[in-house]
Amino acid sequence: MLFSQRMAGVRRSYIREILKVTARPEVISFAGGLPHPESFPVQAVAKAAADVLAESGPDALQYSTTEGFAPLREWIAARYRERHGIEVSADEVLITTGSQQALDLIGKVFLDPGDGLVVERPGYIGAIQSFSLYGPDFRPVTLTEKGLDCTELERVLKAGGVKAMYLVPSFQNPSGITYDLETRQKVAGLAAEYGALLVEDNPYGELRFKGGAIPPIRKFTTGPAILLGTFSKIVAPGLRVGWLVAPTEMRDKLVTAKQAADLHTSSLTQRIIHRFLTDNDLEAHIESIRSRYGAQRDRMVAAIHERFPAGVSCTEPEGGMFLWVTLPEGISARKLFEAALARNVAFVPGRPFYLEEVDNTFRLNFSNASLPAIDEGMDRLAACIREHLS
Ligand SMILES: Cc1ncc(COP(=O)(O)O)c(C=O)c1O
Repeated sequence: MLFSQRMAGVRRSYIREILKVTARPEVISFAGGLPHPESFPVQAVAKAAADVLAESGPDALQYSTTEGFAPLREWIAARYRERHGIEVSADEVLITTGSQQALDLIGKVFLDPGDGLVVERPGYIGAIQSFSLYGPDFRPVTLTEKGLDCTELERVLKAGGVKAMYLVPSFQNPSGITYDLETRQKVAGLAAEYGALLVEDNPYGELRFKGGAIPPIRKFTTGPAILLGTFSKIVAPGLRVGWLVAPTEMRDKLVTAKQAADLHTSSLTQRIIHRFLTDNDLEAHIESIRSRYGAQRDRMVAAIHERFPAGVSCTEPEGGMFLWVTLPEGISARKLFEAALARNVAFVPGRPFYLEEVDNTFRLNFSNASLPAIDEGMDRLAACIREHLS
């Protein structure tokens, strides 16, 4: 009876468990969700940190407001206005300790046990874990190549009791799928029609290396909506700076929850990020990440087409860090994982991304491995799959 009931139904992160066994140096791992370390602007962050400390050291080291560093909130609001034509004011922005914290705060503020929560199928494991602490009734809706299956979504909404929907419409984790414009508009309409709070998480949106930009769903909705963002994938995840954008009444409640959680996100890292953003050419930096990940994605997709046996399919993402492989029905990705690990190559079996038993899918990360590692790792994986299917 030591632990709270709240913890009873919450699983440990399967990915973090997997990362322990895939950390051996001889393993080529496509399992993690890590950005490429060479994409981190180490020198520029070092200079930004030195400048911040030299110019406003005591303030950067002091306690600060829960809402976050005002100039950084301004910068974020301006980017929504300029890039997406979405009217966002700095007042609506709350800086969070990564967007992962935003998920926890949203769970705390909006979810009571039993509240219906639409999630994608497959869905982001970190969100499922985070929301699980608040006991919602998960209502998974299938993802198709074009985004959420809107017929299924409408059926789920019609059945009643849905309070919120958690969606990752661009280069989704784990599938790499991006909702097309029509699906975004339909989802926005359905969310508003049924009064479901739209929680739109967008950590990968800036990492598009193919195709044209599509605006966030929030642009089309007239209903309640919260947008999540992060600097983890365009600057560095170790700084732990993300944000949410919510109408002020909601934002106020989220601020209260954040006060109780951690008072505020590190003043120092917020200022370092802001300094980095204002003193450097962010577009050139993001472009270098895009071209790196684009080349790595192309190499991985080509390997799948050339070397994986017929009957195995994959998504072909236009951005982000992941792609999703589907094996023929009845083939277990968890068993394949064991065989792959014996050949020193790793991926994440798809099972934990679902709320029910589905075992014939897996996730491959293409952002973290070099091109030669992709060649070698995909060779090993292809051999394993061929053996497994024969
Ligand atoms: C969909 C999604 N949301 C949120 C996060 C958390 O990111 P962070 O807390 O680093 O901002 C991740 C990280 O991989 C993610 O894939």
